[in-house]
Amino acid sequence: MKIVTDPDKMKTYAKIIKKENKLIGFIPTMGYFHEGHTSLIKTARKQSDIVIVSVFVNPIQFGVNEDFDSYPRDTARDEELARACGVDAFFCPKKEDMYPEDYSTYVDVEGLTSGLCGKSRPGHFRGVTTVVAKLFNIVRPDIAYFGQKDAQQAFVIKRMVEDLNMGITLKILPTVREKGGLAMSSRNIYLKGSERKDAAILYSSLKLAEELISSGERDAKKIIKKMRELISTVPAVSKIEYISIVDTGFLKDVAIIGGEVLIALAARVGRTRLIDNVILNVKSEKPENDHDRP
Ligand code: PAJ
Repeated sequence: MKIVTDPDKMKTYAKIIKKENKLIGFIPTMGYFHEGHTSLIKTARKQSDIVIVSVFVNPIQFGVNEDFDSYPRDTARDEELARACGVDAFFCPKKEDMYPEDYSTYVDVEGLTSGLCGKSRPGHFRGVTTVVAKLFNIVRPDIAYFGQKDAQQAFVIKRMVEDLNMGITLKILPTVREKGGLAMSSRNIYLKGSERKDAAILYSSLKLAEELISSGERDAKKIIKKMRELISTVPAVSKIEYISIVDTGFLKDVAIIGGEVLIALAARVGRTRLIDNVILNVKSEKPENDHDRP
């Protein structure tokens, strides 16, 4: 496995691969790998000739009071895992090479970034789209892999790729969970003692929503209320930042559920901010134009 820190060297490597007409599969990450990351890498390994993984804790997607400094890092372990998964190139650029002093260019996707996590993390998605655009320009992937765990991020990147004619195929892979249901996340390391077990309530609330919908409930407010009630039974959840049910086109709140919806939430377990979601395809309770049917 090639280990590259210099963005120019990475560009040159990608150019050579392209000349050989090989398909590049790319997984951008912030490292501290867990099975969510390795599932993306393993899928890329099956689908592309050359697999490139980046590990870069991107400062510009963290707010001033967020955890950039304490974000878990273990590049040696990540390298080992990447090698075991058959990665061809491991790209770990330095902050000063990605953002030199005179750095001034940002990519901002409007609309999709205003709700959900965008509300409580202003500037977060601007940081994400900027770094992903830069990484795409350096690595020139044919296919890029993202996780549904960060559903809004996936929607925003998809929009950016389309709007900026990037011509990259995006694959969004399912959320990998721990046995109890907790979505895997590098930040789970922050969970202390029983918090890890308690945090599973977030996924249980999403399952509850799914059950309510399959038993006929279509009123988003009622479902969200029941989810809140369930989560509130676990004192370790110190704050529910949001629970939203939105359409998957514009990520706008829906009142009556029908069609494809994203049920997403963010909450703090102890001091740790966690997010989770499910996407459901929901049949409308009653066909709207019943009388038009044969
Ligand atoms: P990071 O949190 O390291 O995640 C890297 C990729 O792994 C993302 O596409 C994320 O959605 C996916 N992922 C994380 N947890 C997952 C899980 N439990 N199951 C499936 N996939 C999972 O997301 C980022 O980094 C950054 O914002 C990045 C896109 C790299 C830009 O800096």
